[in-house]
Amino acid sequence: MLRFFSPAKINLFFRVLGARPDGYHEVATLMQTINLGDTLFIEPALQDSLTCTDPTLPCDHSNLILKAAQLFREKSKIRRACKFHLAKHIPVEAGLGGGSSNAATVLWALNQMTGEKIELKLLKKWAAALGSDVPFFLSCGTAHCTGRGELVHEKPPLKNQSFWIAKPKEKLSTPEVYKNVDLAQCTSVKQGDYFNDLESSAFKLVPTLPALKQQLLSLGFHTVVMTGSGTAFFCLGQVQNPMIDGVQFFNVEFIQRKEGAWYT
Ligand code: C5P
Repeated sequence: MLRFFSPAKINLFFRVLGARPDGYHEVATLMQTINLGDTLFIEPALQDSLTCTDPTLPCDHSNLILKAAQLFREKSKIRRACKFHLAKHIPVEAGLGGGSSNAATVLWALNQMTGEKIELKLLKKWAAALGSDVPFFLSCGTAHCTGRGELVHEKPPLKNQSFWIAKPKEKLSTPEVYKNVDLAQCTSVKQGDYFNDLESSAFKLVPTLPALKQQLLSLGFHTVVMTGSGTAFFCLGQVQNPMIDGVQFFNVEFIQRKEGAWYT
């Protein structure tokens, strides 16, 4: 059995540029992989199957892991089926990219297990059909992403730092957050390195989020910004062991992968 790390991501900044005729939004975002992640166990089998440590996660063909396996088979014409087991650590509906990361990990893993016949460039193209964030996870870990998020421009690694992810109980679905975005509020000039144009939409949908952000700032963090479509925040600043009732905290740092190797 093989095991692959499947990292989460944060969006250091997230700009929404406008609505597109295809129902998506044009975005510009700086994305970074972090060392919070799932572990995906894979072994060859006669047909695909999926189990997961999180009983609330659907393990049928709606799961991006099985969708990615099927897509790889269809596109590559390599008839490889697998038994997948996911040890889930990335909170779901948090804006941390868990499902997208799992899908990218499957594409990478299946290509590696079948002799690396598919070029990375092609894998990235296939990845875009699975979701806007999936191609990013085939980057080396730091990228400026444009289009609907699927156009990945690799960036040099950023200076690493230890910081916190704060995840409240409330969840948010990505389409709902985009649907409620007020484009007039997404101004073209932004102050500072960290911001998220989806915050105001998420804050309207989950009215407890603005107070949580204030509470996080009052713990001593100097920067608290929602990641992706939420509800998790990344929190920068020197704070030891933050604690808030009903909020999960993860102490994390940036990670990169080396060209030709997967994330560990
Ligand atoms: O690409 P993905 O499957 O992750 O997108 C989920 C949903 O989020 C889309 O169907 C769309 O409603 C919304 N979305 C968007 N603009 C983007 C990415 C996603 O409106 N750039």
